[in-house]
Amino acid sequence: MTGLFITLEGPEGAGKSTNREYLAERLRAAGIEVLLTREPGGTPLAERIREVLLTPGDEVMNADTELLLVFAARAQHLAGVIRPALARGAVVLCDRFTDSTYAYQGGGRGLSVERIATLERFVQGDLRPDLTLVFDLPVEVGLARASARGRLDRFEQEGRAFFDAVRSAYLARAEADPVRYRLVDAAQPLTQVQQALDALLPQLLELYRG
Ligand SMILES: Nc1ncnc2c1ncn2[C@@H]1O[C@H](COP(=O)(O)OP(=O)(O)OP(=O)(O)O)[C@@H](O)[C@H]1O
Ligand SMILES: [Mg+2]
Repeated sequence: MTGLFITLEGPEGAGKSTNREYLAERLRAAGIEVLLTREPGGTPLAERIREVLLTPGDEVMNADTELLLVFAARAQHLAGVIRPALARGAVVLCDRFTDSTYAYQGGGRGLSVERIATLERFVQGDLRPDLTLVFDLPVEVGLARASARGRLDRFEQEGRAFFDAVRSAYLARAEADPVRYRLVDAAQPLTQVQQALDALLPQLLELYRG
């Protein structure tokens, strides 16, 4: 038996972390083993790489260094957590995954899609998420929510143009593959976002039980 791999994507403040808990509860209520995890991170070593990626510092991080670090953390996470959970039949709910790489290192930093796709094949083989929820909202709304949380991380310190490019990259990916991606209007009040997730639940259960 293989499980189901669901990723939650979208910019800062979109509500990924808030709603992954909600979705996990719903799935657990249906008697399903759910593994909640996040990227970059998800294992002790990968969380250390996350710190390197998110902590602002005096030395400017080269965009290729950033790209390789996200995939290094991902390799660790896949081997230690994601693949074993899928192999035992769990639903893996992952807060950010490779679509974030296409959006931030691709859209935001301007690295080529080909370069990212090469590393994606190298690190993941054939493994892709079964379903990706893209929490979409206007850039300024997300940034306002994120900055209300306090100190800004290395990505949150980027400017408006960076986040416009991140959003465009997400939307382009979602549009190109309506089977794998579901857009969620994340600017709505939380109760309405959760209603939208409830509406998706039967499809998730069907995918899982296949
Ligand atoms: N639909 C919503 N309406 C209003 N506030 C929301 C909504 N969803 C989440 N929030 C609030 O916005 C803030 C950011 O949400 P959350 O941490 O879930 O975002 P995120 O997508 O995980 O962001 P990041 O990528 O920075 O981790 C939180 O304080 C959360 O309570
Ligand atoms: Mg979060």
